[in-house]
Amino acid sequence: MAFCRSRVERALDHWLPASSTPPCTLHEAMRYAALAGGKYVRPLLVYATGQALGVKAEALDGPACAVELIHAYSLVHDDLPAMDDDDLRRGKPTCHKVYGEAMAILTGDALQSLAFHILAQDAAIGVPAERRLRMIDTLAIASSSQGMAGGQAIDLEAVGRELNLEELENMHLRKTGALIRASVTLAALASPGLAEETLRLLGGYARCIGLAFQIRDDVLDVEADTGTLGKLQGADMQRNKPTYPALLGLEGAKRKARELHDKALALLDPLGQAADPLRWIARYIVARPY
Ligand code: IPE
Ligand code: IPE
Ligand code: MG
Ligand code: MG
Ligand code: MG
Repeated sequence: MAFCRSRVERALDHWLPASSTPPCTLHEAMRYAALAGGKYVRPLLVYATGQALGVKAEALDGPACAVELIHAYSLVHDDLPAMDDDDLRRGKPTCHKVYGEAMAILTGDALQSLAFHILAQDAAIGVPAERRLRMIDTLAIASSSQGMAGGQAIDLEAVGRELNLEELENMHLRKTGALIRASVTLAALASPGLAEETLRLLGGYARCIGLAFQIRDDVLDVEADTGTLGKLQGADMQRNKPTYPALLGLEGAKRKARELHDKALALLDPLGQAADPLRWIARYIVARPY
């Protein structure tokens, strides 16, 4: 995790315009949102997948930055008063609390475009143009109305309504799962000799841990405390959000996360020892304290 943090923070610092570059407030807000001490789980998945497939770390910095920027943008917008209306993120005031709502909207917009700029321009990615195009498309679809943005729309429209298990799974797979899966896919696409079968196995693994990630997020919203989480505990219940604990109970939600963990690991079997970091991440995702 330390390796990943230092690499991705260096790369983000490189790609994000300096706060002294006009428009200064926007650039400062982008840095505030993207370099605020998140866990960097998505970059971690990029590096671990790349490691499992023998991809050089330099080729992974761009994809790691790109997914983290989309994630940071999604959080800035998720916290807006029109969405979850949260004041606290990573132990600090949310972007709109510091820079105002209008600037926070633009911050999200600009973080998103920077992500695609990096995938298009980063020379170190070092794959043929056709592959690079596939990477850009992977991130676009994951962020789209079929992926993250679509899942967020389902989330907003579900408030106060009972979702069944299938609907809840669909929402979680999109709003959080899509970007987690894209993290794994982008790293795999950076591997020149990638076999489609490997991509399929990794995709299955990522689907499981992506869903498990949001289940754990829902469980922590019930169980952890605000100080540990760095965001307001109990916010989901307060806002009547559709969550796994609300539908299955705490134990049921935890059991579901464990089942997904086991399923994810089974899918990695053919990849042998090289996939150990991916196994570790699966464990981390269902057991993390925040
Ligand atoms: C929180 O994501 C929002 C979800 C998609 C569940 P993370 O738990 O990855 O947030 P940071 O980046 O570590 O703060
Ligand atoms: C956020 O889910 C998912 C995305 C930002 C795409 P949540 O609304 O549960 O995330 P937190 O709990 O605010 O971090
Ligand atoms: Mg939300
Ligand atoms: Mg939220
Ligand atoms: Mg949450």
